Amino acid sequence: MKRLEGKSALITGSARGIGRAFAQAYLAEGASVAIADIDLERARATAAELGQGAYAVAMDVTTQGSIDQAIATVIRQVGKLDILVNNAALFDLAPIVEISRESVDRLFSINVAGTLFTLQAAARQMIAQGHGGKIINMASQAGRRGEALVGVYCATKAAVISLTQSAGLDLIKHGINVNAIAPGVVDGEHWDGVDALFARYENRPRGEKKALVGQAVPFGRMGTAQDLTGMAVFLASSDSEYVVAQTYNVDGGNWMS
Ligand SMILES: NC(=O)c1ccc[n+]([C@@H]2O[C@H](COP(=O)([O-])OP(=O)(O)OC[C@H]3O[C@@H](n4cnc5c(N)ncnc54)[C@H](O)[C@@H]3O)[C@@H](O)[C@H]2O)c1
Repeated sequence: MKRLEGKSALITGSARGIGRAFAQAYLAEGASVAIADIDLERARATAAELGQGAYAVAMDVTTQGSIDQAIATVIRQVGKLDILVNNAALFDLAPIVEISRESVDRLFSINVAGTLFTLQAAARQMIAQGHGGKIINMASQAGRRGEALVGVYCATKAAVISLTQSAGLDLIKHGINVNAIAPGVVDGEHWDGVDALFARYENRPRGEKKALVGQAVPFGRMGTAQDLTGMAVFLASSDSEYVVAQTYNVDGGNWMS
């Protein structure tokens, strides 16, 4: 028996990376998946690659109109929304004395306000449907503690953990489970960008930081997007009905809390 048979999911930022892997896992478990991304061209290519049940949706999580339109597209396409994954996010790096207002506004607008208002729109839809739902926010080990060069991103992910707690407590009365996943270091295009920023600020050759963070993981290597899909399916399935307002570390042992 497939664990998400007949469910309708929307995953923000799923044209690539972790969101794409979640989409693939949800499709394999019988769900339909809206590949919602600001990069519509790539979302279309991803949906075509993933095949039946996947469809591309243009979505910018920083704009209310775009959030509402994306949810409306899901309803037009499938008739309901059962699962939301708030996955879209941006990263930045700078010493505290160099952090710009532009960086703070950009990251908080996507990682925090984007997560909150997409969650809100999905919750309104799920409440109207009357059958509960599942909302999964992407936090990070960066939200568990600060890092010298990563102040803004760490603060946004701490906010995601906090929002998960508040929304989880508020929405469970509607049968909506809100939980989060806190990955550690996950290899992919995202970390290629992170590595390039560390190379600049820490004066390292490209690839060195990535190798170091991989070696430091107790499991012995960086994570892959596939390492996270088991938790993503669990939190989207009926197996997690009694799990409320939690953030789960899936990080090879990097962090304990
Ligand atoms: N990769 C890691 O090591 C890691 C670690 C911890 C947490 N995370 C979190 O996991 C999630 C996915 O990470 P990833 O590595 O797959 O990232 P990624 O950068 O590979 O993918 C992010 C996707 O979001 C899309 N996007 C960007 N801005 C958007 C917007 N305004 N509206 C809609 N879509 C937008 C991008 O086009 C891209 O497809 C993020 O929340 C990230 O913070 C990643």
